[in-house]
Amino acid sequence: MSALEDYVGTFDNEPGYLNWAAFGPLSPSVREEVFADADLLASGRPSSLALVGERIGQAQELIAELLGAAPDEVTLQPSSTHGLMHALYGVSGAVIASTAEFPSVSLTLERASTASDRALTPRWITPPDGRVTPDAVAEALDDEVTAVAVSHVDFRTGYRVDLGALRDVVGPDRLLIVDAVQSFGIVDADYAAADVVVGHGYKWLRAARGSGFAWFSPRARERIAPVLSGITGTTASGLVVDELPAPAPSAKAYTVSVPDTLAAGRLAIGVRDVRDAGVAAIEQRLADHVDTVIATADRHGIEVVSPREPHARAGIVTLAPEEPARLAAALANAGLVVTARGNSVRIAPHAGTDAETLRMLDETLDAFGRESFTVA
Ligand SMILES: Cc1ncc(COP(=O)(O)O)c(C=O)c1O
Repeated sequence: MSALEDYVGTFDNEPGYLNWAAFGPLSPSVREEVFADADLLASGRPSSLALVGERIGQAQELIAELLGAAPDEVTLQPSSTHGLMHALYGVSGAVIASTAEFPSVSLTLERASTASDRALTPRWITPPDGRVTPDAVAEALDDEVTAVAVSHVDFRTGYRVDLGALRDVVGPDRLLIVDAVQSFGIVDADYAAADVVVGHGYKWLRAARGSGFAWFSPRARERIAPVLSGITGTTASGLVVDELPAPAPSAKAYTVSVPDTLAAGRLAIGVRDVRDAGVAAIEQRLADHVDTVIATADRHGIEVVSPREPHARAGIVTLAPEEPARLAAALANAGLVVTARGNSVRIAPHAGTDAETLRMLDETLDAFGRESFTVA
């Protein structure tokens, strides 16, 4: 069996789950290892605590491997939003972001602006369909702009930004701050095009909450003031009292306190599993499932608002049905788990989504269409 087939074989949740963009049911390996780590912490022995403490370095190394970065440039965070806070609170000048971003970007930018007494100002853009294309960013650029903050994959539409093209537009002198929550581990991207990449383990990595991370490139570390630097973010290595050491000249300056070692373990295992399967192979398998979901919606006459080209999407297919509430109810009644929000229904398979789940979707959309026809 190939590494990908091994990985796909670990998806043991019930058929019907199509909500990976919201939450990833925990993988068997994450479940096993967290129990083992909890047992070690329960012993209270220093050697056992130290063993679990090694999870921090393991997670940093694995994330760095996937990003093509150095392990000490990666910080562990309670959430991806915490990572964005470290980045955005330390920037000044104008920062371009879309008003349609997940609030981890938009709200954090607004709060950082207020805290800076407007030394930082949001430069809001409202591109058509919420798609932050390189052209939409280019239009908003001027000499005041110091950074662009963007989701690699938009949580609503599933639109995937071309990071390389965005870097070309942004140029070498501005920061590119990327929220990779909806892409890390399922998209084989060139993250080196960015300066800051944040993500977390509780969706596509199947590793549960508390597992955020943030990577800061050398350029990011030169330009982002470590405003939220805490007791782990200093030049000191141990506990210091009666002294106020300066922020470290490394990425650890963007940390507050010691990470949750159980969360670090879960994250390390989640990342290890996708690394072993191969992110490119996962991306390809997921693309096949996304094609199937799009074809199923097309067959049943339901509008798809997500991009269709594989390079412009990842794992999200957003539908704009004529009767969204009725479709949401039909899917829930059939045992299909999706995100229904406003007028849209978001379907998010993973590489390990089984044929039975895709068949259930097809059957439900078919029955839904026939029911509308009968009623009309
Ligand atoms: C694009 C995006 N960014 C950020 C978040 C929130 O991440 P966290 O809970 O790690 O702060 C989400 C959650 O759905 C998301 O979709």
